[in-house]
Amino acid sequence: MKTRAAVLLATGKDFEVTELDLDPPKAGEVLIRYVAAGLCHSDEHLRHGDIVPRFPLVGGHEGAGIIEEVGPGVTRLKPGDHVVCSFLPVCGHCRWCSTGRSNLCDMGATILDGCLPDGTYRFHKDGEDYGGMCMLGTFAERSVISENSCVKVDDDLPLEKIVLIGCGVPTGFGSAVHAAATEPGDTIAIYGIGGIGINSVQGAALAGAVNVVAIDPLANKREMAERLGATHACETAEQAHELIYQLTRGVGADKAIVTVDVVTSEVVTSAFHAIRKGGTVVITGLADPSKNTIEIPGALLTLFEKRIQGSLFGSGDPFHDIPRMIELYRSGDLKLDELITQTYTLDQINEGYDRLGRGEVARSVIEFPVR
Ligand SMILES: NC(=O)c1ccc[n+]([C@@H]2O[C@H](COP(=O)([O-])OP(=O)(O)OC[C@H]3O[C@@H](n4cnc5c(N)ncnc54)[C@H](O)[C@@H]3O)[C@@H](O)[C@H]2O)c1
Ligand SMILES: [Zn+2]
Ligand SMILES: [Zn+2]
Repeated sequence: MKTRAAVLLATGKDFEVTELDLDPPKAGEVLIRYVAAGLCHSDEHLRHGDIVPRFPLVGGHEGAGIIEEVGPGVTRLKPGDHVVCSFLPVCGHCRWCSTGRSNLCDMGATILDGCLPDGTYRFHKDGEDYGGMCMLGTFAERSVISENSCVKVDDDLPLEKIVLIGCGVPTGFGSAVHAAATEPGDTIAIYGIGGIGINSVQGAALAGAVNVVAIDPLANKREMAERLGATHACETAEQAHELIYQLTRGVGADKAIVTVDVVTSEVVTSAFHAIRKGGTVVITGLADPSKNTIEIPGALLTLFEKRIQGSLFGSGDPFHDIPRMIELYRSGDLKLDELITQTYTLDQINEGYDRLGRGEVARSVIEFPVR
């Protein structure tokens, strides 16, 4: 079968929309027709070179679609099923899966190679194997993916909205609820209000934080944060620092969450100084893995028992969190429609990422025509 897809061929090069050959599903795999794909900053890291994957790679790791065919041995899914894709596969049996930490599943080891769990590829062109970002490649009309990446959802849900529950929502929401363990009455500082940070705002507010301080240099981001649960919004970390110490009578924020696009030592240091004794800085944003992006006075870490906590997929369990967040969307507690500021066709992918880079959108989504 053939499929159109947006591919990255080398660092620093834009996406190219091209036609690829797609193999049928093997054991434990499914053929999916994507209905929608979200534009997360993690793919932008690959386009810009902050993070270098194996090339060539079909981009996209936030996706939702409809199963068209299942491979041998797949019993949990059938053609016609609607699914949200988890950007991390969950095997269910490894040490991490079996101890309630399936976001760390060993099967995720090859998400930047983009091969399937058996180590081989389903996308090809001119004799070359193409990977799929996070083993999904959601910037394609169709893909063959592991059943371990698919969370079945009810047919009546709008896939072009709940697609955000494949990455942005659970990552941001979980950073506040699981990784930062926000408690009623907490003061939470969130640095960077993009597609991830805005969901940390929603998570912190729903978990009962009394002060949710959103920090972003862009006015449109601060306005959105205030609409979706932030009690305060600041343009700079310095302003936030002053405000947080006023709000907490000199104690400091209970937790700070770093969801900026490219994590720097400056923003981590600001977050570290904004939290109270025994407080936690959650680092969710990414950066070049070969760079040191944490430089803090270790003595203060020790004397004030502060914590620095990394967070992947919001430190949650995809097969538990995705259905739960869908219920929060159904109940109206979790806003998704309001987060989608722009929709595109696949051919507009580079324009979409240029606009994301300029901070013009919260989350934008590619919608695929039915064909
Ligand atoms: N850990 C995970 O599981 C996981 C999952 C998905 C994405 N991510 C990462 O999360 C980060 C955010 O992704 P996104 O899609 O929300 O990006 P985005 O581009 O939508 O938003 C980033 C925001 O950060 C703001 N910003 C930049 N520098 C800032 C600073 N110094 N202080 C305050 N705000 C600042 C920008 O103005 C922008 O609004 C990226 O690094 C992405 O790769 C991590
Ligand atoms: Zn993402
Ligand atoms: Zn596992």
